[in-house]
Amino acid sequence: MTVFVDPDFSPDALRQSLYDGNLIVLTRLPAVSDLVDYAREQLAELFSPHDPEHAHEHFGPPEMAKMLGVWKPAFIHSDRSKKLVCEIITQAGLPAEHTHYDVPKPRTSFPVGHLTTGVAFAFPWHRDVWYSAPAQQLNWWMPVFAARPDNSMSFDLPSFGQAVPNTSDAFDYYRNNASRLTTAAQVTKEVQARPGAVDHAPAHDLVVLPSPGSILLFSGAQLHTSIPNTSGRARYSIDFRTVDARDLAEGRGAPLADVHCTGTSIRDFHNVADGSAFNEDLVVRLFGAPPPDAMLVFAGPGSDEDG
Ligand SMILES: [Fe+2]
Repeated sequence: MTVFVDPDFSPDALRQSLYDGNLIVLTRLPAVSDLVDYAREQLAELFSPHDPEHAHEHFGPPEMAKMLGVWKPAFIHSDRSKKLVCEIITQAGLPAEHTHYDVPKPRTSFPVGHLTTGVAFAFPWHRDVWYSAPAQQLNWWMPVFAARPDNSMSFDLPSFGQAVPNTSDAFDYYRNNASRLTTAAQVTKEVQARPGAVDHAPAHDLVVLPSPGSILLFSGAQLHTSIPNTSGRARYSIDFRTVDARDLAEGRGAPLADVHCTGTSIRDFHNVADGSAFNEDLVVRLFGAPPPDAMLVFAGPGSDEDG
């Protein structure tokens, strides 16, 4: 496995490299800095006059959950966020007409002992494909302020493509959409189904810290975890996902060694060029017909936290 920084890859080679388990950091995309600046402005306003990295020293968990429960959906669905995400994708060289994306999610990680459930849940070792992401999903992750080894996330690269015991059999995407309606109200107790690895303790893990303005790309099949935040500072990051329509239709993607969940998140993705969703006939052919009463996409005002 390799961590590439600004590799000279064609768009096809870039995606294949990620499907093969490599990590890629891109440091030269102007739209990444623009999205980071936008998030910083919004956080400064939200927590004014306090420094967002120290906001947890001024707001208790219930108040923080309420503030983030309002701000996160507004950021996620703002036209500016979506426009900048589309610019990041095209500046990275991926073709708009073949690339579908999901809305950007701001994530918050507060120091241990503060808000760590609901809107600020810390994920255990997991693969996003255990949360019904397709094998073609690419994750794009960027820090809003300088990320640190004691407040970011970690990868277990040697487990890529290897079966790891996990609880993904308890996860169904459509049922989870229904239960997410209540996430923002959770302050002290975690009630959603959260697939994770069972007793996973890798001998070596890898932390990659792109600077603000850089972005880290990895396959949704990578095994990764949130690092419990002992830095004293709140960590803010933004991530979004993409799927290449040709790779989806033709079955090119990352290996799925240990995926036992049901349902698919594929209907969350929309085309960069024209905003269209994937054709439902194709979705049913690839993933099967959903139950008649399934909540196919999340339809509520909650916090949009997921894998
Ligand atoms: Fe994840």
